[in-house]
Amino acid sequence: MTSPWWVDAVTYQVYIRSFCDGSGDGVGDLAGIRSKLPYLADLGVDAVWITPFYRSPMADHGYDVADYYDVDPVFGSLAEFDQLLAEAHALGLKVIVDVVPNHTSDQHMWFTEALADPDSPARTRYLFRDPAPDGGPPNNWTSVFGGPAWTLDKASGQYYLHLFTPEQPDLNWRNPEVHEEWERILRFWLDRGVDGFRIDVAHGLYKHPDLSDNPDAGGSTIVAGTEYSSSIVSPHMWDRPEVQEVFRRWRTICAEYDGDRAMVGEVFLFDIDRLVSYARPDVLHMAFNFMLMGSRYDADEWQRVITLALDKHREVGAQTCTWVLSSHDVSRHTTRYGGDEAGRRRAGAATLTVLALPGAPYVYQGEELGLQDVNVPPEQRQDPIWERSGHTVTGRDGCRSPIPWTAEPPGFGFTQGSPWLPFSPDADTRNAVTEAADETSTLSFYRAALRQRREHLRGALEWLESPTGALAFRRGRVTCGMNTSTTGLVVDVEPGSRVLLASGPGAVVTGAWLRLPPDTAAWVISEESA
Ligand code: GLC
Repeated sequence: MTSPWWVDAVTYQVYIRSFCDGSGDGVGDLAGIRSKLPYLADLGVDAVWITPFYRSPMADHGYDVADYYDVDPVFGSLAEFDQLLAEAHALGLKVIVDVVPNHTSDQHMWFTEALADPDSPARTRYLFRDPAPDGGPPNNWTSVFGGPAWTLDKASGQYYLHLFTPEQPDLNWRNPEVHEEWERILRFWLDRGVDGFRIDVAHGLYKHPDLSDNPDAGGSTIVAGTEYSSSIVSPHMWDRPEVQEVFRRWRTICAEYDGDRAMVGEVFLFDIDRLVSYARPDVLHMAFNFMLMGSRYDADEWQRVITLALDKHREVGAQTCTWVLSSHDVSRHTTRYGGDEAGRRRAGAATLTVLALPGAPYVYQGEELGLQDVNVPPEQRQDPIWERSGHTVTGRDGCRSPIPWTAEPPGFGFTQGSPWLPFSPDADTRNAVTEAADETSTLSFYRAALRQRREHLRGALEWLESPTGALAFRRGRVTCGMNTSTTGLVVDVEPGSRVLLASGPGAVVTGAWLRLPPDTAAWVISEESA
Protein backbone atom coordinates (compact mmCIF):
# COMPACT_ATOMS: atom_id res chain seq x y z
CA MET A 1 0.00 0.00 0.00
CA THR A 2 1.37 3.44 -0.86
CA SER A 3 1.27 6.23 1.72
CA PRO A 4 -1.25 9.04 1.40
CA TRP A 5 0.09 12.06 -0.50
CA TRP A 6 0.29 14.32 2.56
CA VAL A 7 2.74 12.13 4.49
CA ASP A 8 5.76 13.58 2.69
CA ALA A 9 4.25 16.48 0.75
CA VAL A 10 5.95 19.87 0.59
CA THR A 11 3.21 22.45 1.10
CA TYR A 12 3.62 26.05 -0.04
CA GLN A 13 1.77 28.63 2.04
CA VAL A 14 0.10 31.35 0.00
CA TYR A 15 -0.75 34.39 2.11
CA ILE A 16 -3.28 35.55 -0.43
CA ARG A 17 -3.22 39.30 0.20
CA SER A 18 0.49 39.47 -0.60
CA PHE A 19 0.95 36.79 -3.25
CA CYS A 20 -0.25 38.21 -6.57
CA ASP A 21 -2.91 40.77 -7.47
CA GLY A 22 -4.90 40.07 -10.61
CA SER A 23 -7.46 42.86 -10.23
CA GLY A 24 -5.18 45.87 -9.73
CA ASP A 25 -6.49 46.95 -6.33
CA GLY A 26 -3.18 46.35 -4.59
CA VAL A 27 -4.35 43.24 -2.72
CA GLY A 28 -3.55 39.71 -3.88
CA ASP A 29 -6.44 37.53 -5.05
CA LEU A 30 -7.49 34.19 -6.56
CA ALA A 31 -6.86 35.39 -10.12
CA GLY A 32 -3.32 36.26 -9.07
CA ILE A 33 -2.80 32.80 -7.60
CA ARG A 34 -4.16 31.18 -10.77
CA SER A 35 -1.62 33.07 -12.84
CA LYS A 36 1.20 31.72 -10.67
CA LEU A 37 0.19 28.06 -10.49
CA PRO A 38 2.71 27.13 -13.21
CA TYR A 39 5.40 28.86 -11.15
CA LEU A 40 4.45 26.74 -8.13
CA ALA A 41 4.37 23.52 -10.13
CA ASP A 42 7.75 24.40 -11.59
CA LEU A 43 9.14 25.19 -8.14
CA GLY A 44 8.39 21.59 -7.27
CA VAL A 45 6.00 21.79 -4.32
CA ASP A 46 3.23 19.22 -3.92
CA ALA A 47 0.47 21.27 -2.34
CA VAL A 48 -0.66 24.84 -1.83
CA TRP A 49 -2.32 26.14 1.33
CA ILE A 50 -4.26 29.33 0.70
CA THR A 51 -4.99 31.61 3.67
CA PRO A 52 -8.66 32.70 4.12
CA PHE A 53 -10.38 34.23 1.09
CA TYR A 54 -13.98 34.15 2.42
CA ARG A 55 -16.22 37.17 2.86
CA SER A 56 -14.62 39.29 5.52
CA PRO A 57 -14.53 42.87 6.79
CA MET A 58 -10.74 42.28 7.08
CA ALA A 59 -10.33 43.29 10.71
CA ASP A 60 -7.68 40.54 10.82
CA HIS A 61 -7.14 40.43 7.05
CA GLY A 62 -9.47 37.53 6.35
CA TYR A 63 -9.16 35.61 9.63
CA ASP A 64 -12.45 37.28 10.59
CA VAL A 65 -14.99 35.46 8.43
CA ALA A 66 -18.47 36.84 7.80
CA ASP A 67 -19.58 34.09 5.40
CA TYR A 68 -17.77 30.77 5.13
CA TYR A 69 -19.68 29.83 1.97
CA ASP A 70 -18.54 32.65 -0.28
CA VAL A 71 -15.44 34.36 -1.59
CA ASP A 72 -14.82 37.98 -0.66
CA PRO A 73 -15.10 40.22 -3.74
CA VAL A 74 -11.60 41.53 -2.97
CA PHE A 75 -10.32 38.01 -3.67
CA GLY A 76 -12.63 36.93 -6.51
CA SER A 77 -15.61 34.61 -6.67
CA LEU A 78 -16.57 31.00 -6.11
CA ALA A 79 -16.36 30.41 -9.87
CA GLU A 80 -12.80 31.74 -9.82
CA PHE A 81 -11.99 29.39 -6.94
CA ASP A 82 -13.38 26.41 -8.85
CA GLN A 83 -11.21 27.30 -11.82
CA LEU A 84 -8.18 27.65 -9.61
CA LEU A 85 -8.82 24.23 -8.13
CA ALA A 86 -9.23 22.59 -11.53
CA GLU A 87 -6.07 24.21 -12.87
CA ALA A 88 -4.06 23.30 -9.78
CA HIS A 89 -5.20 19.70 -10.04
CA ALA A 90 -4.34 19.59 -13.72
CA LEU A 91 -0.79 20.64 -12.75
CA GLY A 92 -0.63 17.94 -10.08
CA LEU A 93 -0.93 20.38 -7.16
CA LYS A 94 -3.15 19.71 -4.15
CA VAL A 95 -5.06 22.64 -2.62
CA ILE A 96 -5.65 23.11 1.09
CA VAL A 97 -8.03 25.82 2.29
CA ASP A 98 -7.76 27.60 5.62
CA VAL A 99 -10.79 27.31 7.91
CA VAL A 100 -11.36 29.47 10.99
CA PRO A 101 -13.60 27.62 13.47
CA ASN A 102 -12.53 29.35 16.69
CA HIS A 103 -14.27 32.63 15.94
CA THR A 104 -16.34 34.37 13.31
CA SER A 105 -16.37 37.99 12.22
CA ASP A 106 -18.59 40.33 14.22
CA GLN A 107 -20.34 40.83 10.86
CA HIS A 108 -21.27 37.13 10.61
CA MET A 109 -25.04 36.70 10.56
CA TRP A 110 -24.94 34.68 13.77
CA PHE A 111 -23.24 37.44 15.68
CA THR A 112 -25.43 40.23 14.36
CA GLU A 113 -28.45 38.14 15.42
CA ALA A 114 -26.88 37.58 18.84
CA LEU A 115 -26.39 41.29 19.35
CA ALA A 116 -29.82 42.22 18.04
CA ASP A 117 -31.69 40.26 20.71
CA PRO A 118 -30.13 39.26 24.05
CA ASP A 119 -32.83 36.59 24.46
CA SER A 120 -32.25 35.02 21.07
CA PRO A 121 -30.86 31.46 20.89
CA ALA A 122 -28.18 32.91 18.60
CA ARG A 123 -26.62 34.30 21.74
CA THR A 124 -25.62 30.81 22.92
CA ARG A 125 -23.46 30.31 19.85
CA TYR A 126 -20.97 32.76 21.35
CA LEU A 127 -19.58 33.31 24.84
CA PHE A 128 -21.56 36.11 26.46
CA ARG A 129 -21.18 36.54 30.20
CA ASP A 130 -22.33 38.97 32.89
CA PRO A 131 -19.74 41.43 34.19
CA ALA A 132 -17.66 40.69 37.28
CA PRO A 133 -19.11 42.12 40.52
CA ASP A 134 -17.09 45.32 40.01
CA GLY A 135 -18.70 45.77 36.57
CA GLY A 136 -15.50 44.88 34.72
CA PRO A 137 -14.83 41.89 32.42
CA PRO A 138 -15.90 38.43 33.67
CA ASN A 139 -12.29 37.22 34.09
CA ASN A 140 -8.68 38.36 33.66
CA TRP A 141 -8.12 36.93 30.19
CA THR A 142 -6.20 39.09 27.74
CA SER A 143 -6.44 38.89 23.98
CA VAL A 144 -3.57 37.33 22.03
CA PHE A 145 -3.33 40.66 20.23
CA GLY A 146 -3.21 42.67 23.49
CA GLY A 147 -5.91 44.31 25.61
CA PRO A 148 -8.76 42.50 27.37
CA ALA A 149 -10.27 39.39 25.78
CA TRP A 150 -13.75 40.73 26.59
CA THR A 151 -15.77 43.52 25.00
CA LEU A 152 -18.92 45.01 26.51
CA ASP A 153 -22.14 44.72 24.52
CA LYS A 154 -23.62 47.98 25.80
CA ALA A 155 -27.19 47.14 24.83
CA SER A 156 -27.36 44.03 27.02
CA GLY A 157 -24.74 44.93 29.64
CA GLN A 158 -22.98 41.62 28.99
CA TYR A 159 -19.45 41.00 27.75
CA TYR A 160 -18.48 38.65 24.92
CA LEU A 161 -15.22 36.74 24.62
CA HIS A 162 -12.69 37.20 21.82
CA LEU A 163 -9.26 35.62 22.01
CA PHE A 164 -8.16 37.90 19.15
CA THR A 165 -9.69 41.26 18.11
CA PRO A 166 -13.15 42.40 19.32
CA GLU A 167 -14.22 41.93 15.68
CA GLN A 168 -13.51 38.18 16.09
CA PRO A 169 -16.02 36.89 18.69
CA ASP A 170 -15.24 33.33 19.84
CA LEU A 171 -17.76 30.61 19.07
CA ASN A 172 -19.24 28.49 21.84
CA TRP A 173 -18.24 24.94 20.92
CA ARG A 174 -20.37 23.59 23.77
CA ASN A 175 -23.40 24.39 21.58
CA PRO A 176 -24.25 21.47 19.22
CA GLU A 177 -25.49 23.90 16.55
CA VAL A 178 -21.95 25.12 16.12
CA HIS A 179 -20.84 21.55 15.35
CA GLU A 180 -23.63 21.03 12.84
CA GLU A 181 -22.86 24.25 11.03
CA TRP A 182 -19.17 23.43 10.86
CA GLU A 183 -19.83 20.03 9.39
CA ARG A 184 -21.85 21.75 6.67
CA ILE A 185 -19.01 24.16 6.02
CA LEU A 186 -16.45 21.36 5.69
CA ARG A 187 -18.69 19.41 3.33
CA PHE A 188 -19.30 22.50 1.22
CA TRP A 189 -15.58 22.78 0.48
CA LEU A 190 -14.97 19.03 0.28
CA ASP A 191 -17.76 18.78 -2.27
CA ARG A 192 -16.04 21.48 -4.33
CA GLY A 193 -12.97 19.25 -4.38
CA VAL A 194 -10.47 20.74 -1.95
CA ASP A 195 -7.76 18.34 -0.81
CA GLY A 196 -7.95 19.37 2.79
CA PHE A 197 -7.99 22.03 5.46
CA ARG A 198 -5.58 24.07 7.49
CA ILE A 199 -7.41 24.59 10.77
CA ASP A 200 -6.83 27.98 12.34
CA VAL A 201 -6.23 28.05 16.12
CA ALA A 202 -7.15 24.36 16.26
CA HIS A 203 -6.29 23.95 19.94
CA GLY A 204 -8.44 26.92 20.97
CA LEU A 205 -12.05 25.93 20.23
CA TYR A 206 -12.91 24.93 23.79
CA LYS A 207 -12.16 27.11 26.79
CA HIS A 208 -12.00 26.09 30.43
CA PRO A 209 -15.64 25.29 31.32
CA ASP A 210 -15.65 27.78 34.23
CA LEU A 211 -13.85 30.48 32.26
CA SER A 212 -11.78 30.91 35.39
CA ASP A 213 -8.94 33.41 35.76
CA ASN A 214 -5.62 32.63 34.15
CA PRO A 215 -2.79 32.22 36.62
CA ASP A 216 -0.38 34.19 34.45
CA ALA A 217 -2.25 37.24 33.15
CA GLY A 218 -0.19 40.06 31.68
CA GLY A 219 3.19 40.28 30.03
CA SER A 220 4.31 39.17 26.63
CA THR A 221 5.97 36.19 24.97
CA ILE A 222 8.32 36.27 22.00
CA VAL A 223 7.53 33.57 19.46
CA ALA A 224 10.10 33.24 16.68
CA GLY A 225 11.05 36.89 16.83
CA THR A 226 7.48 38.18 17.10
CA GLU A 227 5.95 39.62 20.25
CA TYR A 228 2.56 38.31 21.43
CA SER A 229 0.58 38.72 24.64
CA SER A 230 1.51 35.94 27.07
CA SER A 231 -2.10 34.77 26.80
CA ILE A 232 -0.94 32.83 23.74
CA VAL A 233 0.21 30.17 26.21
CA SER A 234 -2.34 30.68 29.03
CA PRO A 235 -3.60 27.32 30.28
CA HIS A 236 -7.33 28.04 30.58
CA MET A 237 -7.72 29.32 27.06
CA TRP A 238 -6.24 26.48 25.02
CA ASP A 239 -5.87 22.74 24.58
CA ARG A 240 -8.95 21.49 26.43
CA PRO A 241 -9.44 17.73 25.99
CA GLU A 242 -12.90 18.13 24.41
CA VAL A 243 -11.47 19.66 21.24
CA GLN A 244 -9.99 16.42 19.96
CA GLU A 245 -13.45 14.87 19.75
CA VAL A 246 -14.33 17.51 17.16
CA PHE A 247 -11.37 16.53 15.02
CA ARG A 248 -12.13 12.81 15.38
CA ARG A 249 -15.54 13.53 13.92
CA TRP A 250 -14.08 15.74 11.16
CA ARG A 251 -11.63 13.00 10.31
CA THR A 252 -14.47 10.59 9.61
CA ILE A 253 -16.05 13.24 7.39
CA CYS A 254 -12.81 13.64 5.41
CA ALA A 255 -12.60 9.85 5.09
CA GLU A 256 -16.01 9.74 3.41
CA TYR A 257 -14.39 11.47 0.43
CA ASP A 258 -11.94 9.98 -2.04
CA GLY A 259 -8.37 11.17 -2.55
CA ASP A 260 -7.04 11.22 1.01
CA ARG A 261 -8.39 14.60 2.09
CA ALA A 262 -6.28 15.80 5.01
CA MET A 263 -6.33 18.28 7.86
CA VAL A 264 -3.40 20.13 9.36
CA GLY A 265 -4.04 21.92 12.62
CA GLU A 266 -2.47 25.13 13.80
CA VAL A 267 -1.74 23.76 17.25
CA PHE A 268 0.31 26.48 18.87
CA LEU A 269 1.80 24.37 21.64
CA PHE A 270 5.45 23.98 22.48
CA ASP A 271 4.88 21.01 24.81
CA ILE A 272 5.71 18.17 22.44
CA ASP A 273 3.56 15.60 24.24
CA ARG A 274 0.52 17.85 23.99
CA LEU A 275 1.29 18.70 20.38
CA VAL A 276 1.62 15.11 19.18
CA SER A 277 -1.62 14.14 20.91
CA TYR A 278 -3.33 16.06 18.08
CA ALA A 279 -1.51 14.02 15.44
CA ARG A 280 -2.70 10.64 16.69
CA PRO A 281 -4.04 8.51 13.85
CA ASP A 282 -7.68 9.15 14.74
CA VAL A 283 -7.36 12.90 15.40
CA LEU A 284 -5.80 15.33 12.90
CA HIS A 285 -3.75 14.05 9.97
CA MET A 286 -1.07 16.61 10.84
CA ALA A 287 -0.36 19.23 13.48
CA PHE A 288 2.00 22.10 12.81
CA ASN A 289 5.26 21.40 14.57
CA PHE A 290 6.69 24.83 15.38
CA MET A 291 9.61 23.46 17.37
CA LEU A 292 12.33 24.34 14.87
CA MET A 293 10.72 27.71 14.28
CA GLY A 294 11.02 28.32 18.01
CA SER A 295 14.62 27.05 18.20
CA ARG A 296 17.90 28.90 17.90
CA TYR A 297 19.91 28.40 14.76
CA ASP A 298 22.20 25.80 16.25
CA ALA A 299 22.92 22.32 14.91
CA ASP A 300 23.17 20.73 18.35
CA GLU A 301 19.83 22.18 19.44
CA TRP A 302 18.32 21.16 16.11
CA GLN A 303 19.49 17.58 16.50
CA ARG A 304 17.84 17.38 19.93
CA VAL A 305 14.63 18.99 18.69
CA ILE A 306 14.40 16.85 15.55
CA THR A 307 15.05 13.66 17.50
CA LEU A 308 12.43 14.53 20.08
CA ALA A 309 9.83 15.50 17.46
CA LEU A 310 10.32 12.33 15.42
CA ASP A 311 10.36 10.06 18.47
CA LYS A 312 7.24 11.60 19.98
CA HIS A 313 5.31 11.47 16.72
CA ARG A 314 6.30 7.84 16.32
CA GLU A 315 5.26 7.00 19.91
CA VAL A 316 1.68 8.12 19.30
CA GLY A 317 1.46 6.47 15.89
CA ALA A 318 1.31 9.74 13.93
CA GLN A 319 1.69 9.08 10.22
CA THR A 320 3.93 12.06 9.67
CA CYS A 321 5.68 14.98 11.32
CA THR A 322 5.50 18.52 9.91
CA TRP A 323 8.32 21.08 9.79
CA VAL A 324 7.82 24.84 9.75
CA LEU A 325 10.43 27.62 9.72
CA SER A 326 8.35 30.66 8.68
CA SER A 327 4.76 31.80 8.28
CA HIS A 328 2.62 34.94 7.99
CA ASP A 329 2.58 35.17 11.82
CA VAL A 330 6.27 35.31 12.69
CA SER A 331 9.48 36.96 11.62
CA ARG A 332 10.96 35.28 8.51
CA HIS A 333 13.77 32.84 9.29
CA THR A 334 16.23 34.79 7.12
CA THR A 335 15.65 37.75 9.44
CA ARG A 336 15.66 35.70 12.63
CA TYR A 337 19.04 34.26 11.68
CA GLY A 338 20.61 37.70 11.37
CA GLY A 339 19.28 39.07 8.08
CA ASP A 340 21.10 40.09 4.90
CA GLU A 341 23.87 37.86 3.54
CA ALA A 342 24.62 36.11 6.85
CA GLY A 343 20.93 35.50 7.51
CA ARG A 344 20.43 34.18 3.99
CA ARG A 345 23.38 31.85 4.24
CA ARG A 346 22.05 30.41 7.49
CA ALA A 347 18.51 30.22 6.15
CA GLY A 348 19.83 28.21 3.18
CA ALA A 349 21.53 25.74 5.52
CA ALA A 350 18.37 25.47 7.63
CA THR A 351 16.14 24.96 4.60
CA LEU A 352 18.33 22.25 3.09
CA THR A 353 18.30 20.40 6.41
CA VAL A 354 14.53 20.67 6.81
CA LEU A 355 13.93 19.49 3.25
CA ALA A 356 16.02 16.39 3.96
CA LEU A 357 13.96 15.35 6.98
CA PRO A 358 11.31 12.64 6.85
CA GLY A 359 7.86 14.22 7.00
CA ALA A 360 5.95 17.15 5.60
CA PRO A 361 7.69 20.54 5.34
CA TYR A 362 5.85 23.85 4.89
CA VAL A 363 7.39 26.62 2.79
CA TYR A 364 6.14 30.18 3.32
CA GLN A 365 5.77 32.30 0.17
CA GLY A 366 8.84 34.37 -0.59
CA GLU A 367 11.30 32.25 1.36
CA GLU A 368 12.23 30.67 -1.97
CA LEU A 369 13.29 34.17 -3.09
CA GLY A 370 15.32 34.75 0.08
CA LEU A 371 12.98 37.51 1.24
CA GLN A 372 13.49 38.94 4.68
CA ASP A 373 11.16 41.02 6.86
CA VAL A 374 10.50 44.50 5.53
CA ASN A 375 10.83 47.38 7.94
CA VAL A 376 7.30 48.77 7.45
CA PRO A 377 7.07 52.44 8.52
CA PRO A 378 4.56 53.02 11.35
CA GLU A 379 2.12 54.95 9.15
CA GLN A 380 1.88 52.03 6.72
CA ARG A 381 1.39 49.26 9.30
CA GLN A 382 -1.81 47.27 8.96
CA ASP A 383 -1.64 44.49 11.53
CA PRO A 384 -4.33 44.73 14.25
CA ILE A 385 -1.61 43.82 16.76
CA TRP A 386 0.01 47.22 16.09
CA GLU A 387 -3.26 49.09 16.62
CA ARG A 388 -4.42 47.13 19.65
CA SER A 389 -1.10 47.43 21.42
CA GLY A 390 -1.42 51.22 21.27
CA HIS A 391 1.48 51.26 18.79
CA THR A 392 3.89 49.54 21.15
CA VAL A 393 4.14 46.14 19.39
CA THR A 394 5.29 46.18 15.76
CA GLY A 395 3.15 43.25 14.61
CA ARG A 396 3.36 40.95 11.60
CA ASP A 397 3.42 43.28 8.60
CA GLY A 398 7.16 42.79 8.07
CA CYS A 399 6.81 39.14 7.01
CA ARG A 400 3.75 39.92 4.86
CA SER A 401 5.32 42.24 2.26
CA PRO A 402 4.09 41.56 -1.29
CA ILE A 403 5.98 39.12 -3.51
CA PRO A 404 8.07 40.87 -6.18
CA TRP A 405 7.52 38.86 -9.36
CA THR A 406 9.46 41.08 -11.78
CA ALA A 407 12.20 43.72 -11.57
CA GLU A 408 9.90 46.56 -12.69
CA PRO A 409 8.75 49.16 -10.18
CA PRO A 410 6.39 50.36 -8.98
CA GLY A 411 4.25 47.17 -8.97
CA PHE A 412 7.02 44.56 -9.46
CA GLY A 413 4.57 42.28 -11.27
CA PHE A 414 2.56 41.95 -8.03
CA THR A 415 0.04 44.65 -8.88
CA GLN A 416 -0.95 47.28 -11.44
CA GLY A 417 -2.12 49.41 -8.54
CA SER A 418 -0.71 50.51 -5.25
CA PRO A 419 0.35 47.59 -2.99
CA TRP A 420 -1.33 47.29 0.41
CA LEU A 421 2.09 46.90 2.08
CA PRO A 422 5.46 48.15 0.83
CA PHE A 423 7.90 45.96 -1.12
CA SER A 424 11.31 45.00 0.12
CA PRO A 425 13.86 47.70 -0.87
CA ASP A 426 15.81 45.12 -2.92
CA ALA A 427 12.78 44.02 -5.01
CA ASP A 428 14.48 45.13 -8.24
CA THR A 429 17.13 42.44 -7.81
CA ARG A 430 15.40 39.95 -5.51
CA ASN A 431 12.34 38.94 -7.51
CA ALA A 432 11.13 35.81 -9.30
CA VAL A 433 12.15 36.83 -12.85
CA THR A 434 15.66 37.96 -11.98
CA GLU A 435 16.25 34.95 -9.77
CA ALA A 436 14.92 32.46 -12.30
CA ALA A 437 17.64 33.62 -14.71
CA ASP A 438 20.41 33.24 -12.13
CA GLU A 439 21.51 29.74 -11.29
CA THR A 440 23.15 30.91 -8.05
CA SER A 441 19.92 32.51 -6.74
CA THR A 442 17.85 31.38 -3.78
CA LEU A 443 15.06 30.46 -6.19
CA SER A 444 17.33 28.18 -8.23
CA PHE A 445 18.53 26.61 -4.97
CA TYR A 446 14.94 25.86 -3.85
CA ARG A 447 14.07 24.40 -7.24
CA ALA A 448 17.10 22.13 -7.16
CA ALA A 449 16.45 21.10 -3.56
CA LEU A 450 12.80 20.24 -4.21
CA ARG A 451 13.70 18.28 -7.33
CA GLN A 452 16.46 16.31 -5.60
CA ARG A 453 14.26 15.70 -2.57
CA ARG A 454 11.61 14.12 -4.75
CA GLU A 455 14.15 11.99 -6.51
CA HIS A 456 16.42 10.83 -3.73
CA LEU A 457 15.12 11.33 -0.20
CA ARG A 458 13.41 8.25 1.14
CA GLY A 459 13.23 6.21 4.28
CA ALA A 460 13.91 6.60 7.96
CA LEU A 461 16.48 8.96 9.44
CA GLU A 462 19.65 7.61 10.96
CA TRP A 463 21.89 10.00 12.89
CA LEU A 464 25.61 9.95 12.17
CA GLU A 465 28.48 11.05 14.39
CA SER A 466 29.19 14.75 14.06
CA PRO A 467 31.36 17.30 15.83
CA THR A 468 29.82 19.95 18.12
CA GLY A 469 28.31 22.67 15.94
CA ALA A 470 27.29 20.26 13.19
CA LEU A 471 24.68 17.58 12.60
CA ALA A 472 24.65 14.73 10.12
CA PHE A 473 22.09 12.10 9.23
CA ARG A 474 21.49 9.58 6.52
CA ARG A 475 18.28 8.71 4.70
CA GLY A 476 18.74 5.93 2.19
CA ARG A 477 21.76 6.79 0.06
CA VAL A 478 21.73 10.49 0.97
CA THR A 479 23.64 12.05 3.84
CA CYS A 480 22.71 15.54 5.02
CA GLY A 481 25.26 17.56 6.97
CA MET A 482 24.72 20.99 8.52
CA ASN A 483 27.35 23.23 10.11
CA THR A 484 26.06 26.17 12.14
CA SER A 485 29.38 26.98 13.79
CA THR A 486 31.84 29.75 12.86
CA THR A 487 34.57 27.36 11.75
CA GLY A 488 34.76 24.74 9.00
CA LEU A 489 33.84 21.24 10.20
CA VAL A 490 34.08 17.74 8.82
CA VAL A 491 31.55 14.89 8.95
CA ASP A 492 32.09 11.31 7.84
CA VAL A 493 30.41 10.06 4.69
CA GLU A 494 30.65 6.85 2.69
CA PRO A 495 33.81 6.74 0.60
CA GLY A 496 33.07 7.50 -3.03
CA SER A 497 30.26 9.95 -2.29
CA ARG A 498 29.67 13.18 -4.13
CA VAL A 499 27.92 16.42 -3.27
CA LEU A 500 24.41 16.45 -4.67
CA LEU A 501 23.53 19.94 -3.50
CA ALA A 502 24.93 22.49 -1.06
CA SER A 503 23.47 25.64 0.44
CA GLY A 504 26.68 27.59 -0.28
CA PRO A 505 30.12 27.33 -1.85
CA GLY A 506 32.95 25.23 -0.48
CA ALA A 507 31.24 22.00 0.57
CA VAL A 508 33.52 19.21 -0.73
CA VAL A 509 33.94 15.50 -0.27
CA THR A 510 37.50 14.22 0.09
CA GLY A 511 37.75 10.47 0.57
CA ALA A 512 35.29 9.69 3.35
CA TRP A 513 34.99 13.27 4.61
CA LEU A 514 32.50 15.99 3.85
CA ARG A 515 34.00 19.39 4.62
CA LEU A 516 31.38 21.98 5.49
CA PRO A 517 32.24 25.69 5.66
CA PRO A 518 30.53 27.71 8.43
CA ASP A 519 26.75 28.17 7.98
CA THR A 520 26.50 25.57 5.26
CA ALA A 521 24.50 22.40 4.72
CA ALA A 522 25.00 19.82 2.00
CA TRP A 523 23.44 16.67 0.65
CA VAL A 524 25.85 13.96 -0.36
CA ILE A 525 25.01 10.80 -2.29
CA SER A 526 27.06 7.65 -2.54
CA GLU A 527 28.38 7.02 -6.05
CA GLU A 528 26.82 3.65 -6.82
CA SER A 529 23.33 5.09 -6.61
CA ALA A 530 24.12 8.36 -8.37
C1 GLC B 1 -3.99 32.25 13.47
C2 GLC B 1 -3.58 32.89 12.17
C3 GLC B 1 -3.34 34.34 12.41
C4 GLC B 1 -4.64 34.96 12.89
C5 GLC B 1 -5.16 34.24 14.12
C6 GLC B 1 -6.58 34.62 14.42
O1 GLC B 1 -2.99 32.27 14.41
O2 GLC B 1 -2.47 32.21 11.62
O3 GLC B 1 -2.85 35.01 11.28
O4 GLC B 1 -4.43 36.31 13.19
O5 GLC B 1 -5.15 32.86 13.94
O6 GLC B 1 -7.46 34.04 13.50
